[in-house]
Amino acid sequence: MTEPLKILYVTSEAAPLVKTGGLADVSYALPRALRAMGHDCRVAMPAYGIIPESSWGEQVAPCTAHMDVTLHGAIRRSVLPGADVPLYLLEHNAYFGRTHPYGDYGHEYPDSLERFCFFCLALLDGVPRTGWVPDIVHCHDWHTAAIPAFIKTRCIDHPVWANKPTIFTIHNMAYQGRYSSTLMPKTGLGWELFTPRYLEYYGDINLMKAGLIFASKINTVSVTYSKEIQTDVAGHGLDGVLRTRTKDIVGIANGVDTATWNPAIDKRIPANFHSTDTSGKKVCKAELQKTLELPVTDAPVFGMVTRLVWDKGIDLLLSCLDDLLRRNVQLVVLGSGDDVFENALKQAEARFPGKMRVQLGYDETLAHQIYAGSDFYLMPSRTEPCGLSQMYAMLYGSIPVVHRTGGLADTVFDASTANVAGNKATGFVFASWSERAFQNMIARALKLYEEPEKLAALRRAAMSQDFSWERSANEYVNLFREAIAQP
Ligand code: ADP
Ligand code: GLC
Repeated sequence: MTEPLKILYVTSEAAPLVKTGGLADVSYALPRALRAMGHDCRVAMPAYGIIPESSWGEQVAPCTAHMDVTLHGAIRRSVLPGADVPLYLLEHNAYFGRTHPYGDYGHEYPDSLERFCFFCLALLDGVPRTGWVPDIVHCHDWHTAAIPAFIKTRCIDHPVWANKPTIFTIHNMAYQGRYSSTLMPKTGLGWELFTPRYLEYYGDINLMKAGLIFASKINTVSVTYSKEIQTDVAGHGLDGVLRTRTKDIVGIANGVDTATWNPAIDKRIPANFHSTDTSGKKVCKAELQKTLELPVTDAPVFGMVTRLVWDKGIDLLLSCLDDLLRRNVQLVVLGSGDDVFENALKQAEARFPGKMRVQLGYDETLAHQIYAGSDFYLMPSRTEPCGLSQMYAMLYGSIPVVHRTGGLADTVFDASTANVAGNKATGFVFASWSERAFQNMIARALKLYEEPEKLAALRRAAMSQDFSWERSANEYVNLFREAIAQP
């Protein structure tokens, strides 16, 4: 029998404490799935000021990081609420005692680079002081990318970290942690690393590049995206670096935490339902319409819950809005992000009273209600590393209309004649990212809405998809073991 592993899972956000996107959901569900398999997975993240004090736990170790100056913090030991996953919170009030993990009013905090490099180095100092030593460190996105670099440089003689295997998981190539080279002393990494071979990127520091170069193994969150990022389609300028590591890169699809995202037991929605009895979904639709002050009618409701950013294809939605809303439909959008998209959506809402509702901000409960109450779910992302929203939508019986990219291509099966005949169809998938293709797909969705039996069959198929974490968690364990064998 193989030994259970000790895994330090390092992240900048984890649900339900701190969430700005899918990374938080993954950082709740994957550690939970790994623990259910018998592995000792522990999550580490900064002790942000927005985390309720009741979740901070006891201080268990001091920690020190020698950056350009010497900084002190502490490790608190807590638990991820609802998940039974041990949680290390790195406390440093000046860096993390703020209202948001990354920035206020849409602007990144100016000291992001030093905050997250400090987080990484202080954690490496503090975790061994708690008396627990992991077999592997699992890092997520650029905020934690300095860890593999510290381990392979500053820690080469460290009693705990020398030769420690690391995994770097890419959740999104669009966010790389790119900063001016003048900030190099703030990283805690030596100037000798500021070369094209390591951190230097067109004259700047690129922290994700450090993660990609120094990690033992790399993965991203779907198989299709793992291939796309090695081309200029989605490499965001680092495809060349990725190609140098191609044999160490795999795609492992995200799953869904089915205890949180399950319409049969979800307490956030007004009525529960499941694939063989969707009558509760009608109640959810009517309640959603009432909550958002839309007329309670049978018109098909299209939903979106999303960060309002370029990658999500919000501009494509905007350019297709008139075509969509001149029909007998309703559209509900919950999101926050770039001012230009927030303003344009609000203006469109004013142009289409009684047909469109835009709720700006972040609202976990309304998100569940939109998945449950909508008939269709729009996701015209330019690129999408995996995407969780389309999976939540399917499980809640909202048929996704998506661009064929990244994880959307891997998780949604188009209602083509062959797929429908084979009972495999779960949504509508358009291949070219264009107004025409998106509009055609919406037209197909609306046609289906006129055929209740076909709609019900597609909904049943979508709701019956198995997105549970078990298979992916197993793939992570295999990757961890490979990295341990060859750090
Ligand atoms: P990404 O991580 O790129 O934003 P995902 O589809 O992987 O995309 O995950 C998005 C997650 O964030 C989902 O859980 C979605 O419901 C949630 N979400 C996005 N925007 C909001 C919002 N404004 N309010 C509530 N939940 C949101
Ligand atoms: C990123 C990606 C999204 C993915 C999520 C979790 O935010 O944009 O596609 O599902 O990470 O891995």
